[in-house]
Amino acid sequence: MKIAVIGTGYVGLVTGACLSEFGIEAWCVDIDQDKVDALRRGEIPIYEPQLEELVVSNHEEGNLHFTTKMSEAVPQADVVMIAVGTPEMKTGEADLQYVFAAAEEIARHLSGYTVVTTKSTVPVGTSRAICARMKTVNPTADFDVASNPEFLREGSAVMDFMRPDRIVVGADTERAHELMQQLYRPLVLGGVHLEASNPETSELAKYAANSFLAVKVTFINEVADLCDEVVADVGAVSRSMGMDFRIAPTFLNAGPGYGGSCFPKDTKAFARMGREFGARQTIVDSVILANNRRKEMLAGKVAEACGGSVKGKNVAVLGVAFKPNTDDVRESPALDLLPGLREAGANVSAHDPKALFQVQREVDDETITYHTDLEDCISDADAVVVLTEWDDYKELEPDWLHKKMRGNTFVDFRNLYDTEEMLESGFEYFSVGRPRALYQARDGRSVALQQAAE
Ligand code: UGA
Repeated sequence: MKIAVIGTGYVGLVTGACLSEFGIEAWCVDIDQDKVDALRRGEIPIYEPQLEELVVSNHEEGNLHFTTKMSEAVPQADVVMIAVGTPEMKTGEADLQYVFAAAEEIARHLSGYTVVTTKSTVPVGTSRAICARMKTVNPTADFDVASNPEFLREGSAVMDFMRPDRIVVGADTERAHELMQQLYRPLVLGGVHLEASNPETSELAKYAANSFLAVKVTFINEVADLCDEVVADVGAVSRSMGMDFRIAPTFLNAGPGYGGSCFPKDTKAFARMGREFGARQTIVDSVILANNRRKEMLAGKVAEACGGSVKGKNVAVLGVAFKPNTDDVRESPALDLLPGLREAGANVSAHDPKALFQVQREVDDETITYHTDLEDCISDADAVVVLTEWDDYKELEPDWLHKKMRGNTFVDFRNLYDTEEMLESGFEYFSVGRPRALYQARDGRSVALQQAAE
């Protein structure tokens, strides 16, 4: 089988590389000549674990090709996958101009029966709209359009592709479904469920999944706020909830609010679809509001931890990527926190293992200092704030941290550290939904209330 993948962003590149690993000949197409040249040299434009090895080995073996020309890739392909960007417009709608442009260009190069699928996250009805446009461009072409959304997470995209929870395909014809079954045969044989339906169902499934996960995160974030008020431990609440198999334990970690290129964009698009089709998604509407508010309040929370103000204080922020194992800062809480701290008069330094360059481009403030060395970042800090749960930070010893920084205020927006240990090391330690009133001093040490009572 041969495939063509249009767009070598994170979805397209991972899809092309992983399918070529299954022995399918994959042609990745991108209009950016420099990017294509770099990929041919084995240079990967994004940081994604395991991707470089896959790209390099399959390219060397002749199973994975990169080109700028659709004419080279599309005519020979059985399946053409559209994986170009769908940026958000000011209205909250997904901008489909790149999807449609790719589809029309594909139509010009089709040869023999081909299934054209959308990998990009596209609103309900897009597959049909693509089909209509392609037919206008090339009325005699023999093709079907299918929806085949991806469920990859940044930072573990290769693993997610190789071991998916499910594969979703929406198409109108048996012929298209059969070809898609054949494409994913290695995974289906391995026991992965392929949910076959019509294009609308498949398109909606993607938005519903991302929106529901955003609901889960926002729910536990609001529970954490309540925990802070009523002196309860959100970690224990979340564990208790997650052990109910109907709820499941994932996406119940309270934090600074969700970010990334998917949840914020997809929740907005989903809510918009609800309004457009007269089926309001009121839960998702509220989630968007709650998450935005949460991110806006981050700087204020740091100020509160610093005794009411950060004016003139040195604040070190650890982690600017929206989550670990990625260099992506899109909609990252850091984009609210860093400017927020500056506006409140703090001197800000920031560290991240991968995303410093990216955040510097987004946050236009020359006074913020960016450090590749963590020790340099925190050495003069009155307060340290953890924003991304990188493994590098989880491993830090509280005593070491305390010795290295100047002050003793520590705000942990990811609940990475053990409260007792942090208090014992002399920190004024603040985390999310784990109020300090849960602990009390005993024999000069700080212990959990439950232990104190024993
Ligand atoms: C998300 C989905 O998880 C993927 O299934 C989907 O394919 C992808 O969007 C997409 O549409 O392309 P991703 O954006 O990479 O993946 O990141 P997630 O791991 O889902 O995290 C999203 C946000 O939620 C992050 O800001 C993360 O910090 C936050 N989060 C997640 C929490 O705050 N708490 C949690 O318990 C889990």
